[in-house]
Amino acid sequence: MKILFLGKAGSGKGTYSEMLSREFKIPKFNSGDILRDEIKKGTELGKEISSYIDKGNLAPIDIILKLINKYLSDIENFILDGFPRNLEQVKLFKTNFDVIFYLKCSDIIILRRLVNRRICPKCNKSYNLITIPPKKEGLCDVCGSRLVKRIDETKEAIKKRLEIYEKETLPLINYYGKKGNLIEINGDREINIVYNEIKSYLKKLINK
Ligand code: AP5
Ligand code: MG
Repeated sequence: MKILFLGKAGSGKGTYSEMLSREFKIPKFNSGDILRDEIKKGTELGKEISSYIDKGNLAPIDIILKLINKYLSDIENFILDGFPRNLEQVKLFKTNFDVIFYLKCSDIIILRRLVNRRICPKCNKSYNLITIPPKKEGLCDVCGSRLVKRIDETKEAIKKRLEIYEKETLPLINYYGKKGNLIEINGDREINIVYNEIKSYLKKLINK
C-alpha cells in the first residue's frame, strides 16, 4: 500500500500519517523531518538545507531526491507526507500511489494551529498548546526533552510556505484528481473525526 498525504502547512499531514502508521503498521516518511534530522547532525549538507527551509523555501531537488531514495529504495508499503511536493518531484519519483488523501483546510484554522505547535527536538513528536498539550508544561511526554518551536515557524516563513504551497503543490491536487485516486477530506474538523474518515476509506481499499 502506497499512501500520500497532501495539504497545506498545518493541515494535519504529520498527525494522520503518524496515527495511520501506528495503527496499520505501515512505515511513514516525512520529508520535512528527514531534512530537519540532517540539519540536527550539523553537517555541511545540513547547513545548506537550513538556508532554504528556515525561510520557508523548498530544498533543492537533488538533495531531496538523494535523501528520499536512501529511505525508500526497497520498501513496498509506505505513507508519504511532504513528498512529492511539486510536479517536478512527481515526474522524477515515478510512483503510483494507491490513495492520496488531500486535507483541505481554511487559512484561519491553519494559522491558529501553526502558532500553537511545539515539537520535541529529540524524537520529533508534535504537540499543540491548545488541542494536544504535553502532560508536563514545555516537556515531551515521550522523552522529557524541552519542547521548541519549529525553525520555519516565524511569521515570514509561514507566509512563504503557504505561498509556495499555492504555486507548487496545489497543482498536484488537479494532477492526482484526474487520475481518480485522490480523496478530499475536510481537515478543519476535530482530529478523531478526520482520522476515522481517513481510516474508513483506507479499510475499504484494503478489503477491495
Ligand atoms: P514539512 O515538515 O512537510 O512541513 P509543512 O508541509 O509546512 O507541513 P507541517 O508539518 O507544518 O504541517 P502538517 O500538515 O504536517 O500538520 P501537523 O500534523 O504537524 O516541510 C517543512 C519544510 O521542509 C518545507 O517548507 C520545505 O522547506 C522543506 N521540504 C519538505 N519536503 C520537501 C520537498 N519534498 N521538497 C523540497 N523541500 C521540502 O499539524 C500542525 C499542528 O496542528 C500540530 O500542532 C497538530 O497537533 C495540530 N493539528 C493538526 N490537525 C488538527 C486538527 N484537526 N485539530 C486541531 N489541531 C490539529
Ligand atoms: Mg508535518
